[in-house]
Amino acid sequence: MSDPPAIDAGSDPRESVQRRVFVVGAGIMGSGIAAQSALAGYPVTLEDVSEELAQRGLAHVRKALDHAVERKRIGPGDRDAALARIDTAIGLRRADAAQIVVEAAPEDLALKRRVFADLEAAAAPGAILASNTSSLPITAIGQELKDPGRLVGLHFFNPVLQMPLVELIPGHRTRPEVVAAAREFAASLGKTVVTSADTPGFVTTRAMAVLVNEAAWMLYEGVASKEDIDAAYKLGFHHPMGPFELVDLVGIDTAVAILDVLWDGFRDSSYRVAPILRTMVAAKKLGRKTGEGFYSYPAPPRPG
Ligand SMILES: NC(=O)c1ccc[n+]([C@@H]2O[C@H](COP(=O)([O-])OP(=O)(O)OC[C@H]3O[C@@H](n4cnc5c(N)ncnc54)[C@H](O)[C@@H]3O)[C@@H](O)[C@H]2O)c1
Repeated sequence: MSDPPAIDAGSDPRESVQRRVFVVGAGIMGSGIAAQSALAGYPVTLEDVSEELAQRGLAHVRKALDHAVERKRIGPGDRDAALARIDTAIGLRRADAAQIVVEAAPEDLALKRRVFADLEAAAAPGAILASNTSSLPITAIGQELKDPGRLVGLHFFNPVLQMPLVELIPGHRTRPEVVAAAREFAASLGKTVVTSADTPGFVTTRAMAVLVNEAAWMLYEGVASKEDIDAAYKLGFHHPMGPFELVDLVGIDTAVAILDVLWDGFRDSSYRVAPILRTMVAAKKLGRKTGEGFYSYPAPPRPG
């Protein structure tokens, strides 16, 4: 691998700031990954398809860091230094200055393939390309790349600043040094890394999808009310959230899409979507993001 170009690291003496992180997609996850990377000392470019969306992402970053200050997890100085390390971009051109690219665009195989084909041309030759996909096989995302060996899965959790886990997924062709560098990057953000084989849903998404789907089947069958099912999971197993609270947070459409990926990948009836989940999607009751899912929520803030 050729060495990536040197980056002006400013006055921060930490070696990690030598390595710029370029985040593709300034949504929920991209803004969290940008915030976490900047807090760890990396200069970060947060990219989206329009100025409005990039700025919305930056507003999410600010909100997440403010929240961390309020909770006294970081000091105001840490927040301000992190914010000063982040800039925004439209389009992938500036990926050429990064050593680590993390893609957090929507969960759509065709879209991710296009993004990585463009990144392969735009990013520095030695840069690591990572996808934050929560369910799509890394090998399938990288299938069309000239060099699929530089693509790896780095699956962060929401909210990124609070969740200590990162799932590392080497694709079938990922080079060992890329896996090692991705592991080192995640560890440098203070995350605990678990490694999963490149099977649909990896470890965590598969576990989450089955948990939610089984709860939805129980509700559909009339085994118990949603409140009682949520209480049973929380009080019986120490889960911080019940399955219906969880799926409202994740998005019911997202959960259905994940179950469909698992079904396509395994053809196993464990991933047969409970009809009530599809009905909720058809009714546009998607959870917190639409203000109504299994429970009701106050109107979400308007973008901008
Ligand atoms: N939301 C979660 O809880 C969660 C958790 C772990 C992983 N993930 C994964 O992270 C990824 C992003 O999810 P999210 O919830 O942040 O989605 P999101 O919809 O909040 O954000 C996606 C962002 O990508 C942007 N985008 C769309 N096309 C793009 C392109 N071609 N180039 C650059 N940006 C583009 C969108 O404008 C949007 O701002 C998905 O793969 C998802 O499966 C999500």
